[in-house]
Amino acid sequence: MIKNALVFQKTYSYDDVMLVPQFNKISSRWDVNLTYNYRNGLNLDVPIFSSPMDTVTDWEMARTLVQNFGAAPVIHRYNTPEKQLESLTKAVFHLGSDKEHTIGCAIGNSRDYLERLRTLLSSETVKPAFINIDVAHGHSQSTFEAVEKVRQYWPGHLMVGNVCTFEAARELANIGVDSLRVGVGSGSACSTRIVCGHGVPMISAIEWASNGVAFSKNKDVAIIADGGIKNSGDAVKAIAAGAHGVMLGSILSGTSETPGDVVIHEGRESKEYRGMASKAALEAYKGSTAKHSSFEGVSTFVPYKGETSEVLLTFLKGLRSGFTYSGSHTIDILQAKAVFTEISANGMRLSHPHHKAQDE
Ligand code: XMP
Repeated sequence: MIKNALVFQKTYSYDDVMLVPQFNKISSRWDVNLTYNYRNGLNLDVPIFSSPMDTVTDWEMARTLVQNFGAAPVIHRYNTPEKQLESLTKAVFHLGSDKEHTIGCAIGNSRDYLERLRTLLSSETVKPAFINIDVAHGHSQSTFEAVEKVRQYWPGHLMVGNVCTFEAARELANIGVDSLRVGVGSGSACSTRIVCGHGVPMISAIEWASNGVAFSKNKDVAIIADGGIKNSGDAVKAIAAGAHGVMLGSILSGTSETPGDVVIHEGRESKEYRGMASKAALEAYKGSTAKHSSFEGVSTFVPYKGETSEVLLTFLKGLRSGFTYSGSHTIDILQAKAVFTEISANGMRLSHPHHKAQDE
């Protein structure tokens, strides 16, 4: 048998690269314009999406992200369709009628997903701003079928993911999705790469997916970098590499507005944060885990961080500053001007403060 040659293609993650500073004319980080108008009617003040995870986004996170930032929360799907609609309704009521909302709702691509969609669209008063077909491996026959079915009910902004390749992005862009969640196995609570041996480091995944969209017939499909963002610097790199938005799980975890109680864990105030394919999450969602379940995520406790607004404000200040280091005041300009350099492991080690911070 003739075997295909193995192809080793070098790939990069956030910690493998740094942006090279460039001449800057922007006098204040507040002059950076983070607004972005996505295809098919989704307009955000900041390019931030929250993960549809049951320890991140329910109605309180949704309300805060919309009210205080004009960001895009994605309400998780790990409950009944009725409960999810209730969360959407609660978030929107709490906003007041003068505030246009940007709240998305996640559905899957199997079992009850169409019933869930119909329920989410059944209210006379409240509709999701966008729908996210939320699956771990989005480059699949079932996702393509789901997109076709969902389109019969939902003409609005449709986000699909996750994907991490040129082909997946090109093919999904060709069938008319509006945005793509890019990142497989990169999340902080994921074990997909270890359990399944698959995934692509984030900078390369973003580059490949952007190229896929560029070679499709819908070149304005947005890339949302999802998973592995540890700090605002990673978000700057993600956007510079081609993303039009970033999705945050771990950064928002442990805040007051996440679902769940503050507990004492190892002597510290903490909140649970768990991968949606973790044993704990699957057991909570399905009641018990079937013998054939594969656990591709972990459950953990993270320190309690206080209000989401404080955490996100700090993050956004860093993001804005990052744009100025590349002399860019919009997302499109940053992508056009960005120059990356590969850094060594030592270079990355020395990029962190050399002293333990006493002021955090
Ligand atoms: P961060 O790094 O922000 O990542 O915590 C959040 C993203 O992680 C993904 N996710 C998972 N991926 N197994 C996975 O392989 C899981 O159990 C899991 N749960 C969440 C998801 O894309 C999320 O937005």
